[in-house]
Amino acid sequence: MADYNLNINGKSQQVQVDPTTPILWVLRDHLKLVGTKYGCGIAQCGSCTVHLGGVAVRSCSVPVSAVGSQEITTIEGLSENGDHPVQKAWLEHDVYQCGYCQAGQIMQASAFLNNNPNPSDEEIDAVMDGNICRCGTYTRIKKAIKTAANLKNA
Ligand code: FES
Ligand code: FES
Repeated sequence: MADYNLNINGKSQQVQVDPTTPILWVLRDHLKLVGTKYGCGIAQCGSCTVHLGGVAVRSCSVPVSAVGSQEITTIEGLSENGDHPVQKAWLEHDVYQCGYCQAGQIMQASAFLNNNPNPSDEEIDAVMDGNICRCGTYTRIKKAIKTAANLKNA
C-alpha cells in the first residue's frame, strides 16, 4: 500500500492503495466516481477513458503510480453543469442508447477536439476507432463531434 495525493476534477484527493491499482478502480471503488465505466479491463473498448494531463487514456490500464502530479479529469469533471460543447452536441443528436460506453466516448472526443478543432471524417474515424459501442451509435457520435467542433469554434 502507498499514499497518493491525486488531483481529480480540480480537487485534491487522498487515497491509500496498492501502486499497481488501475486509475479506474481508484475512481470507482475509492472515490465513488462511477461515471467512468469498466468494459474489458485490457485497453480494448474505451469505456473507461479519462483525461490524464489533458490526454485521453484508458484508466483500466494506467496504474495509480504513473499519475504523479498530472490532473485527472473524469466525466463528472468535464463541465460544471453538463454543458461542455461535446455534451451539448451529444444531447442535440440524441446519441445515447444504453449509455454504457458514452462517458468514454465523450472523454475521447473532448480530448481530441482540444487538439484538433476542425477534424475531418477520417480523423474522427481514426481517433474514435478504439471506443466500442455495442449499441452501434457510431453515426450519431460522428455527427455530434462535428456539431461540438462548430460549437467550440463559434
Ligand atoms: S475497460 Fe478500459 S478499455 Fe475497456
Ligand atoms: S450506447 Fe450502449 S454501448 Fe454505446
